Amino acid sequence: MTAHKIIAVVGATGAQGGGLARAILTHPDSGFRVRAITRDATSVAARKLAAAGAEVVTADLGDSASLSTALREVWGAYFMTCFQAHFCPATEKLEARTMAAAARRAHVRHVIWSTLEDTRTRATPRGSYNVPHCDAKGEADGYFRELDVPTTFLRTSFHWENFIDWGLGPRLGPHGNLVLTMPIGTSRLAGIAAEDIGRCAFGIFSEGTDTIGCTIGIAGEHLTGDEMAAKMGRATGHTTIYHPICPDRYRELASPGSLEMGNWFQYQRDTEAEYCSARSVERSRSLNPQLQSFDAWLAVNAGRIPGSVVTY
Ligand SMILES: NC(=O)c1ccc[n+]([C@@H]2O[C@H](COP(=O)([O-])OP(=O)(O)OC[C@H]3O[C@@H](n4cnc5c(N)ncnc54)[C@H](OP(=O)(O)O)[C@@H]3O)[C@@H](O)[C@H]2O)c1
Repeated sequence: MTAHKIIAVVGATGAQGGGLARAILTHPDSGFRVRAITRDATSVAARKLAAAGAEVVTADLGDSASLSTALREVWGAYFMTCFQAHFCPATEKLEARTMAAAARRAHVRHVIWSTLEDTRTRATPRGSYNVPHCDAKGEADGYFRELDVPTTFLRTSFHWENFIDWGLGPRLGPHGNLVLTMPIGTSRLAGIAAEDIGRCAFGIFSEGTDTIGCTIGIAGEHLTGDEMAAKMGRATGHTTIYHPICPDRYRELASPGSLEMGNWFQYQRDTEAEYCSARSVERSRSLNPQLQSFDAWLAVNAGRIPGSVVTY
């Protein structure tokens, strides 16, 4: 009997990495087993993974020795950063370099690096960064190449969970309708359920090593603001209207992150054709046959979108 290949998963207790960890755990015949990396093996999420059969190992991206230990004897590794833990591009790049170097030392055979475009290559930087959480990841791609780490670069998409967790969902408007405000005009936004990112990563590992050196973009659907609002309205039972605000006004909104998100939305709007075609829904579905459409995601999650629980 062949021993299962170990896949180490950074972020296994979170959304993206959790999707991969659960995909491995629910496919016991895949030939893989999961090593879940966490800073706290006693957390509820870590204990749940252990109970489901994962090997849970403690490591911190700020501690390269702990990461080297966690990567011992692994065949594959899923690497991501948690930008919202520090909102610091320099820290994100350092964490990426630490992972790349640890993978090199541990002779990991296949790394998937969860990344995004460096928007500064297409848009004039507004300061050091346009969209720090994208630009730093895109810049960090270079570390994996410089160190010759066998890497598949996985370009993710806007998590639909942003409508729940990051205050980007619809708000009650002056006429009693819900209003979804986004500065994307009539362009399509590539979006995905965060769980599906990990499931697509499972598909990449399952294909072997052919994708090493390639960049694969993934999305669950490419939708306009009008389409997203209409679908939200049907799912929540509250009429929802799309308000295509201009990016400059969006950046001035008082909500935290509006500057960065305004820049990110504008970049996606301005590069719509290229951005969406770099994230093929068909390819994503071939990697992950369970890929959710926005409607399918809403069927489970609409009640968690804050605006949808407004009563009037
Ligand atoms: N929201 C979007 O639209 C979007 C789109 C594309 C990309 N992204 C990117 O996706 C990432 C967030 O992914 P997510 O939603 O899956 O995050 P998440 O659910 O918040 O999970 C974060 C994970 O990171 C782990 N982690 C955090 N700091 C760590 C450290 N120092 N060492 C080791 N592990 C650490 C946490 O593990 P423990 O707490 O167990 O240690 C947890 O498992 C961000 O980098 C963001 O920029 C977001």
